[in-house]
Amino acid sequence: MNTERGKAFAEHLLATLNGGALTMLVSLGYRTGLFEAAAAGPTTSTGLAERTGLAERYVREWLGAMVTGGFFDYDPADATYTLPQEHAGMLTGDRAGNVAPMASTLRALTMALPDVERRFADGDGLPHSVFAPHFETVSADPGDSWRRIYDEHLIDGFLGAVPGLHDRLTGGGRVLDLGCGAGHAINLMAKTFPASRFVGLDIEPRVIASADAERAQLELDNVAFEVGDAAALGAERPYDVITAFDAIHDQHDPDEVLRRVRDALAPGGVFVMVDAKFSSLLENNVGNPFAPLCYSISLMYCTPVSLADGGAGLGAMWGTELACRMLDAAGFGDVEVLDSPRPQNCIYVCRP
Ligand SMILES: C[S@@+](CC[C@H](N)C(=O)[O-])C[C@H]1O[C@@H](n2cnc3c(N)ncnc32)[C@H](O)[C@@H]1O
Repeated sequence: MNTERGKAFAEHLLATLNGGALTMLVSLGYRTGLFEAAAAGPTTSTGLAERTGLAERYVREWLGAMVTGGFFDYDPADATYTLPQEHAGMLTGDRAGNVAPMASTLRALTMALPDVERRFADGDGLPHSVFAPHFETVSADPGDSWRRIYDEHLIDGFLGAVPGLHDRLTGGGRVLDLGCGAGHAINLMAKTFPASRFVGLDIEPRVIASADAERAQLELDNVAFEVGDAAALGAERPYDVITAFDAIHDQHDPDEVLRRVRDALAPGGVFVMVDAKFSSLLENNVGNPFAPLCYSISLMYCTPVSLADGGAGLGAMWGTELACRMLDAAGFGDVEVLDSPRPQNCIYVCRP
């Protein structure tokens, strides 16, 4: 027994438990507006409760965790709490660098945890419909983390990295977004490239309803949304560009989907797949600071949905090596893997 190693692991475990608990409290701080109110300047628990219209007793207990957890400073002389400017930048505001909404997403995932736990015994998957009600508040949140990421990075960072894509979309092309979810990405593309025509496809009717509501609100007439299974995509309507953001690894039959994507491309068309940037080999992901979070999200959502109805069960950590092999097998002879503005994602630019 190496006692030093045991001691270090005990500390690691305690930090892990603290992190898990604080994550739930970050989601509370985000959803109740406590971080935004605290960023206005030092105040007491009563002052913060007044700023937010919340109950002081709950606010004070939350602040206790925030101070001891290293989020806030506390001055006992006048019982004031301060959210340092350097911290506020990562917990407030509408930029993608505000990580507080991510805590809200993790909280939504925990709501389906009892269902995932039951699947450990039988190995079955879980359909999207199990998760959809829990994610409703997340996808309806205008400050949702992926919305911010798209607002900040989609047009220039993700699409701009693909040579010639901006020109193609500016000139007018037919675009399909597979697994479009609540549709923010495609609505943003439709707004930016009015000469192109866009179709968003998703298997989950609830998210398509949200996507269409946002389309109507933005008064876009160059985008349409459809409920459908990507594994049944036909080739009768060819597309110049097909995109899939964080969606292929969730597929029940990803091999079939990739083959159909290739067949649905018009001559000269391109498939742009944004996905998690990890290795297919676990040993290569050791030390990657994003890996534990992404494996956990994959376990709590991506893997069960992709296992549903006897599906492939790829999960978010399928990795670039396997992704490239599958793209090749689907008939994409020309695949480039580009870095994205986010270190956790890469961009596959795929041509037959
Ligand atoms: C992780 S979400 C990503 C959503 C969206 N692209 C985004 O980035 O916000 C994956 C999406 O793929 C959809 N999906 C999964 N399997 C599908 C299938 N077979 N056909 C169409 N959509 C599917 C899910 O309903 C979900 O909305």
